[in-house]
Amino acid sequence: MSEASIGIGLIGCGTVGSGVITLLGEMREAYAQRLGRSLELRRVLVRNTTTPRDAVVPANLMTDDPETFFGDPDIDIVVEVAGGLDPVGGFVERALAAGKHVVTANKSLLAARGVELFALARKHDVCIAFEASCGGGIPILQALKFGLAANRVDALYGILNGTCNYILSQMSDHGAEYDAALTDAKAKGFAEADPTLDVTGADAAQKLAILASLAFGVAVNADDVSCQGIDEIEIEDIHYGVELGYAIKLLAIAERQDEGYVLRVHPCFVHMDEPLSQVRDAFNAVSVFGHAVGHSMFYGHGAGQMPTASAVVSDILNVAAGWYPQAFKSMAIWPDQHEPSQMVDPDDVNNRYYLRIAARDVPGVMAKVAKIIGDLGISISAILQHESDEDSGFVPLIITTHDAREGSVRQAAEALAQSDVVAGRPACLRIIELPTG
Ligand code: HSE
Repeated sequence: MSEASIGIGLIGCGTVGSGVITLLGEMREAYAQRLGRSLELRRVLVRNTTTPRDAVVPANLMTDDPETFFGDPDIDIVVEVAGGLDPVGGFVERALAAGKHVVTANKSLLAARGVELFALARKHDVCIAFEASCGGGIPILQALKFGLAANRVDALYGILNGTCNYILSQMSDHGAEYDAALTDAKAKGFAEADPTLDVTGADAAQKLAILASLAFGVAVNADDVSCQGIDEIEIEDIHYGVELGYAIKLLAIAERQDEGYVLRVHPCFVHMDEPLSQVRDAFNAVSVFGHAVGHSMFYGHGAGQMPTASAVVSDILNVAAGWYPQAFKSMAIWPDQHEPSQMVDPDDVNNRYYLRIAARDVPGVMAKVAKIIGDLGISISAILQHESDEDSGFVPLIITTHDAREGSVRQAAEALAQSDVVAGRPACLRIIELPTG
């Protein structure tokens, strides 16, 4: 890097890229003062130079030609905010191989190819900074890598997808319809270009893979995360949850157990006494349980233009200052250095459960339902049934369980669905209780 200035090459100039350009412009003098050198935007590589953009980019910096971009000798740090695997994965490889540090927000790329890319960076004596890949503006990766370095992390529970949290908040707090809330989240710039990644839980699973690998120091990728989205949640379950004292959340969960690691993303009920249950709208939050620190909670804007740009530009500053590349060399905490991991079979994970059963309104039904559940070794914690004036012949029966094996609950749901006293398949949601710490 030159003595006078640090050259930035930006790949992608959509929502986040425009935010990065805005920050680099409005904070130019403050950053120069903090670093002792200025940050200079040298090139912006985009797919289409004529697309309208939020940020004003001088025309001579904009190019759609990778050769022009990579041929610029004055770029020191390549900042990738385009997203996706292809062609962007190739661009990141090319930047690392050319000896440029990389700052990226690309969770899908890191979740799929992190180990290989970090090894490539090490080979070429450069680093990868990736704070913006998880939790938007929340410096959760800094916390896991450095701030909590003294700990053995035992568990981590995150609300990692702003779009899903926004949709669930709108449905619970304002009675919004799912489709309207999703449209709103797209308009506000929270959702991915392909919002199915948000609502199926895939985006949160990619982020969890990155967080868990740092928290536990083991190699994980998104395929190790069992995943269920919010697209099948029914509003009546949100209402019953409230009646029982629970908020519905899409939680990303990483736990260290004796038999291995549990990594999962799914909608679940969280008791309203838990701080995570109070995280609303597009906010993200992560509760980390370290053996020495106990419970630490990180909260902030997990999506959107400027929070994500905040994480990207902070990474640029930390790389430009030199301490981050030094930490990349001197601390064995990075994905290419992680041990292989052993995952627990999802069927063997224990949770409390909520079941909503459409039960036939005739004598003896409660006993039959309780027998199906009890025969599978599942213990009932509470039963709720309201008086009903419905004439369908079926009434909603709500059951919560004590800790039960996931595989057994799945078998119970199947057996109930086959039973002549139940209509359809029961709605089934986990009830997550966080450690006390
Ligand atoms: N679509 C993501 C979200 C953006 O809603 O959280 C941040 O990764």
